[in-house]
Amino acid sequence: MSDLSPVIKNIESQKKSVNDVGSLEKMRLQFLGKKGEITLLMKELGKLSPEERKAAAEELNKVKDSINDFISSKSEEFEDNLMSEQLSSERLDLTLGTKSTDGRIHPITQVIDEVIAIFTDLDFCVAEGPEVETDYNNFTALNTSENHPARQMHDTFYVNSETDGMPNVLRTHTSPVQIRSMLQGKPPFRLIAPGKTFRCDNDQTHTPMFHQVEGLVIDTTSNMGHLKGCLETFLKEFFETDVPKMRFRPSHFPFTEPSAEVDIGYRKEGNQIIIGEGDSWLEILGCGMVHPNVLKNVNIDPDQYQGYAFGVGIERLAMLKYGISDLRTFYDNDLRWLKHFGFVPLDIPSISGGLSR
Ligand code: DAH
Repeated sequence: MSDLSPVIKNIESQKKSVNDVGSLEKMRLQFLGKKGEITLLMKELGKLSPEERKAAAEELNKVKDSINDFISSKSEEFEDNLMSEQLSSERLDLTLGTKSTDGRIHPITQVIDEVIAIFTDLDFCVAEGPEVETDYNNFTALNTSENHPARQMHDTFYVNSETDGMPNVLRTHTSPVQIRSMLQGKPPFRLIAPGKTFRCDNDQTHTPMFHQVEGLVIDTTSNMGHLKGCLETFLKEFFETDVPKMRFRPSHFPFTEPSAEVDIGYRKEGNQIIIGEGDSWLEILGCGMVHPNVLKNVNIDPDQYQGYAFGVGIERLAMLKYGISDLRTFYDNDLRWLKHFGFVPLDIPSISGGLSR
């Protein structure tokens, strides 16, 4: 068999000129194609004696392998380059605003935004707390001791973890944000805390996850009259009516004394909810004067400070205002429902602009 060194030399110089997928393929055809130089040499092996054939085949196979190795490593390199080129040329800046009007704001998000707009106008600030909360903040610090019957009423989801040796729960209400906020700052306080809450409950009027907004005012003079005035102002703005039909009922919560619940009057017409008319009532919030024990638990002197708190059900506000009659539809993720009840993203609620337009 003829000397392979000129072919090998040629291969090496060809390798140097390969700079894209096209030239790589051309090189493959030149040496390994049907009529390629190596392929033709392979065909000639049959003419050799058995000993010569073995040695020549070994040599040819080595050359063939080296070409194949070169081709696969080059194609990988070209593919990688192509991918990074594509990635950089097709990059999308997701921070850009959209001109599309197809998306909708979920009614829960809208209501939270409306509530924030109203209360920030009334000089409240917005506080936050975690959804996985300590049993201590969720209950004990709120004057709900270990064996207090109110703990049973909350159908708590216990979580398999602890914080500083205290068992954790999924918060059953937004009230623990009162504790966190008071521990972090100094009175006076005037805050709301909207967020998700969880209870092991699921039927037509309960979902395991729902939303509340907590309110807390602590200073030296606030009383039950201020609480009533504040809630009336809020409900008037929220329902965009002069005087919403509402009633205060005496109630009990471990963390307030005295305590009350507020119901809104409404009437059902078919599937529609009409507020301010009829004689059906929907409970929308609990409230009261903060219990002195709660203040003591956050190192505030109850002889010097006092104040009120409230916890409002967001879904209930949304149902009444937007005529949504089944609580579970909020979380069905039905696009037709969202198109119907959702809000256009650029219509941001504000009191001056008309809250819900
Ligand atoms: N946390 C109560 C609940 O989920 C609601 C509530 C009642 C909150 C009275 C308060 C309050 O801040 O003062 O049922």
